[in-house]
Amino acid sequence: MLNRTFEYRPPAPEPPERLGLLDLLARMKRNPLECWTAEVFREPVVKPRLPFVDALLIHDPSAIKYVLLDNAANYRKDSIQRRILSKGLADGLLSVEGERWEVQRRTLAPLFARRTVVSFGRAMLKAAKRLSDSWRELGPGALIDATAEMTSLTLSVLALTIFSDGIGDDIEEFRAAMNDYFGAVGRIGVMDLFGVPDFVPRPGRTRLTRTMVYFEGVIDDIIETRRHRLACSAQEEDSKDLLALLLGALDPSTGKPMSLREVRSNILTFLSAGHETTANALAWSLFLLSQAPEWSMRVQEEARRELSGPAEGLADRLIVTRAVVEEALRLYPSIAALSRTPNEPDRIGSFDVRAGSLIVIAPYVLHRHEALWDRPEVFDPSRFLPEARTRIPRFAYLPFGVGPRTCIGSSFALQEATIVLAFLTHGFEIDLVPDAEVWPLQRITLRPAHGLPMRIRPRNAAHRGE
Ligand code: HEM
Repeated sequence: MLNRTFEYRPPAPEPPERLGLLDLLARMKRNPLECWTAEVFREPVVKPRLPFVDALLIHDPSAIKYVLLDNAANYRKDSIQRRILSKGLADGLLSVEGERWEVQRRTLAPLFARRTVVSFGRAMLKAAKRLSDSWRELGPGALIDATAEMTSLTLSVLALTIFSDGIGDDIEEFRAAMNDYFGAVGRIGVMDLFGVPDFVPRPGRTRLTRTMVYFEGVIDDIIETRRHRLACSAQEEDSKDLLALLLGALDPSTGKPMSLREVRSNILTFLSAGHETTANALAWSLFLLSQAPEWSMRVQEEARRELSGPAEGLADRLIVTRAVVEEALRLYPSIAALSRTPNEPDRIGSFDVRAGSLIVIAPYVLHRHEALWDRPEVFDPSRFLPEARTRIPRFAYLPFGVGPRTCIGSSFALQEATIVLAFLTHGFEIDLVPDAEVWPLQRITLRPAHGLPMRIRPRNAAHRGE
């Protein structure tokens, strides 16, 4: 148990008691995280009084279970969430609905089965080692932006696991285009919030279209080359990357493969859904460890012991490290809010909901809810150590959502973040620059508003594989 005398409360907006409409709109534009009033952290269900939107904010585990699991068929992803998340990914798993979603979900499930994800452990270690080599070259005391470094690392992991034989000619160009893409879609605009139709021009759209055209070209080339290669040679099941698995995936009910368009959309979906989300989980974990030396020591000890063992099952042995990642995802869930729309009128607890209304479930609020957590604002990974973890109510901790549309990449992401955090903490002292301003900002994901300026100093201990 963390010593109660050392209780670290990481930065978070102070919830206002109430908000006027203009203030709400200003905060929504600046940082939607600042819109949550104190009431939502106390009450299980809140019906906010808004002039244009009929919304219900639910942070009660049984009501969440009802919406996301028991009666999930009546609740589709709402148009705001789809508009923000699915630009350019229209035919991928994240965006499709109804029967097309069902077919894709069952076709893609084997790509993220435990055995496959465990087989990606080596690629994750390889990416961590490459990053650590580049940090060593910077020399002792170098200044990095940990958010940017983690974003680049998670892209490398996806590149190694999707395209084990490389991303075309220029990874830097690909990376820059990826950043452009997130820059263009990452802002929750007031126009989106109020349902302004799609044909009304949004800033950044032309740039987004250019980026998508570039991506589609590169990815189509890679798929074409790979199809050709796969036709000429068989690959061992265990050494298959995600692209080979996608190209070989068959709907278990009909035996049909995916179309080229769906393969391409799902590659883009994995890149977008798995990239910034995992990078933020890692960046917040590094930040939190830099503020809690006691936990940093525990992660180092665990890493020293476990990194010298076999790569197989490594993430399962990194119990303390994983608890740190899970606690980082509690305090700063990469997807801070989920939303749904009822197809038919319904009743949630004692609230009637109309078809087409907006149901919001915010992991950010849920994970800090006074009724569900002891000292919710304190960083305490011991909540996620094996015994304590069983006491967390199942629907009180949802960084990956829950129910049929739960994150398909959750084990991939947790394994990656755990392995990389252990590897980097073992290899380096990583300290926040004094006076750095760290603040959570909700865009498409929940990230540090001004990046994370950190100084890195290599430790002397011999590193796994070095
Ligand atoms: C820490 C990292 C991650 C977090 C916090 C996260 C979070 C989430 C959440 C909350 C959802 C559900 C959204 C909803 O119910 O409306 C989701 C869905 C999804 N995630 Fe993740 N994710 C992460 C990493 C990944 C990775 C690594 C991949 C793939 C490589 C991925 C692929 C997807 C896909 C395809 C969906 C849509 C699933 C469906 O609708 O059937 N995610 N993610």
